[in-house]
Parts: sequence; structure tokens; C-alpha cells
Amino acid sequence: MSILIKNIKELLQVRDTNITIVKGEDMKTLPILKNAYLIIENDTIVEFGPMSEFAEYEADEVIDATGKIVLPAWCDSHTHIVYAGDRSQEFVDRINGLTYEQIAQRGGGILNSAEVLQNTSEEELYQQSLKRLNSVMKLGTGAIEIKSGYGLTVEAELKMLRVIKRLKKESLAAVKTTLLAAHAVPKAYKENKTAYVDLIVSEMIPEVGKAKLADYVDVFCEKGYFDLDDTDRILTAGTAHGLIPKIHVNQFNAFGGVALAVKHNARSVDHLEEMRPEDIDALKDSSTMPVSLPSCSYFLSIPYTPARQIIESGLPLALATDYNPGSTPSGNMNFVVSTACIKLKMTPEEAINAATINGAYAMGISNQYGSICRGKKANIIITKDIPSYYNLPYNFGDNLIDKVIIRGKILTD
Ligand code: NIG
Ligand code: FE
Repeated sequence: MSILIKNIKELLQVRDTNITIVKGEDMKTLPILKNAYLIIENDTIVEFGPMSEFAEYEADEVIDATGKIVLPAWCDSHTHIVYAGDRSQEFVDRINGLTYEQIAQRGGGILNSAEVLQNTSEEELYQQSLKRLNSVMKLGTGAIEIKSGYGLTVEAELKMLRVIKRLKKESLAAVKTTLLAAHAVPKAYKENKTAYVDLIVSEMIPEVGKAKLADYVDVFCEKGYFDLDDTDRILTAGTAHGLIPKIHVNQFNAFGGVALAVKHNARSVDHLEEMRPEDIDALKDSSTMPVSLPSCSYFLSIPYTPARQIIESGLPLALATDYNPGSTPSGNMNFVVSTACIKLKMTPEEAINAATINGAYAMGISNQYGSICRGKKANIIITKDIPSYYNLPYNFGDNLIDKVIIRGKILTD
């Protein structure tokens, strides 16, 4: 199967294979080829260039992209799309004055989702999650990280991980899996958090590592959830069993989790709504990607990640959705890119770099995804006829996508 896309107005994010991350000042640059063509064979980008150099090519499918922008599909490096039911009642409770923390303290929040998930069959959980995955793919997401963390028992966490494994097998999207057993302290361990951390460290992590059910290990490092000691223990155990750290940190409080994650060579540190100068310093000279989740800030009305400070310190930044039932019931990367420009004051170039190549880096797959490169996987967005790529963030809330191609297949309705 081959696809030729011709007369592309602007082909974005054309980079050398060896570029797997973009940092600081370089994030302002988005390499573009104007009036271009692109050829896909099976699941791979095999050729591209200016139309002036296009020679005959017999493709199974030809797409005329006159007036359209073509870019790599979004790489969403932080989601919780496997969950059961929803928490729209808590959304209304927050409108009526309760805070996210107050809802969690009265047993709602993550514990509410865990109870529903524990009582949902694996098949039903898979079907609900598949729907979400298919809908975010139509919005242009071609690679996605999915976390466990609404199980909170050995059995239910494994159920979630098996569902993610099945999504990975059945879907065209690239899927990376994260064990987030340390998402909240379950009701049964309310008075004995250490015993739950013991269970994670001595049972869950070894079992998941052995069965190769996850790539990453995550912890919600936050007041009222898991402290620095818990996080240290979990990341140490994860690393020992082949799970790379990738953590939730600095969402509401900053108390040293970033430096701890860097010490453990975390692939990414995510949220970062609260950042102190020492957190930025800890990230310098590290291989850890800072990840911002602007839709979460929007939905909870909490501060936005200080993206300007991070980028102007020479660091990279990735953008992801955080799609989950409590703090971000949206998996729309187009909205994330817009919000990053509007609220985080990122330029369109910075936001697109953050949502493609840097997102792929945060999942450890930027050698295969996140830029237009010969030999990379053919995960492509073709926009509608729009004046320029500036319109992607500018026309916030609009769907400007015409077609999405994932691993060489055009998605249909
Ligand atoms: O990333 N911060 C922790 N976890 C999720 C929210 C989970 C929930 O409320 O269900 C997040 O925002
Ligand atoms: Fe999250």
C-alpha cells in the first residue's frame, strides 16, 4: 500500500533522523518545506521533497493537499484513558464550590474512579477505553502513553495493564504503558500507607516487570498522596525491574520531587504547575523531559506551567493532554497546542515542537515518531485548507484537521 500526498502548501517538522529532542532557543525553529510532496509505503515515510523535484510515482492512493498543511501526528506522552465511567458529578460539585482536594479528601476523586473500575469487567473497560483512543486518533494523536492507576489493587492494576496491552495490539497508534499503582492510597490502606508502598515495591513492580506489562513506572508525588521517601522507594524498585521512572510532580506543591526524579534518571517529569528555581536547576544537564499539561490547569483553574521560564533556561518542554476523568476529561492535543500558545505564551513553533518530537522523546520513541523523516513511521496530519500553521493554535476549539494517517492507514469515520 502506498500513498502520495502532493501539492502540500507547507510540510512541517522536516528534520534529520538524529534530532530526537529540541531544547531552549531551538524550540523556536520549526523546519518547513513549502510546496512539497510526501510518499508513504506501508507504514513508513519513504520520500519527500519540493514539488519541483517530484518525479513520476505510481501510488495506490493520491491525495491532493493544495492549500493544506501536513505535519507529524501528535505524540501525547501522558494520559489515563483507561478508566470506567466518568466523574461529571464531581465537576458539578466543583462548580458549586468544592475544591479538587476537598473532593479527594471525602473519598471522591481517584478513589471514586478506582471503585468503579474494580467493579467493571475487563471487556467493558476495554470497550470504553477503545472508544476514547479512537476518538483522540481522529483528532490527530498517533502515539500515546497510557497509565494504570485506577485499579489500586494487584488484581485491578493488572486488569488495567492487560487492557492497555490489548489496545496496543489492536490499535494503529503507538502505545507506551506506565504502571501508576502509586496514584492514590487505597481506602483499605488509609491508616497504613507504608504497607501499600510495600505492596507496590515487593509485589506489583516485580510482577509487572517480569510479565513485561509496562515500560514506565509513575508516582503521584504530592502532599496527601506519596512523599519523597515513597517516591524514592518506588522508583528504585521500578528501575531494578526494568521500568523507567516518569512521574507526576509539582502539580500543587513543590518539595523536591523534580530533583529526586532526575536523580533516578526519569524519562520525564510531568505537571510542573509549581516550579521553584531549584527545580529548573535540577533539570539542567539531565536527560529528563519536563512535560506540561495545560488542559489540566484549564479544567481545574490552577496555575499553568511556567513554560517561558523553562524554555528560556535552555530546557526542552513537551506538551501532553493528561486525559483522565478527574482533572482533564479531554484528550484533544489541538486544544493543548492552542492553550499552550494562549496561556503559556509559547510560540506556535515551540508548541508544535513540544507536541510532536518532544512528546515522542518523553515516550522514548523519538527515533521513530514526532518528525517528518525518511524511515520514520507514517503518522501524519493533513489539515483543511488554512492560511498557515498559525491557525492551528489561533482558531482554538475549531477542528482544522482534514485527514489523519496512522502507520500508513488513512483513518475513516
Ligand atoms: O494527572 N494528578 C494525578 N492524577 C491525575 C488526576 C487523576 C484524577 O483526578 O483522576 C492528573 O491530573
Ligand atoms: Fe496525570
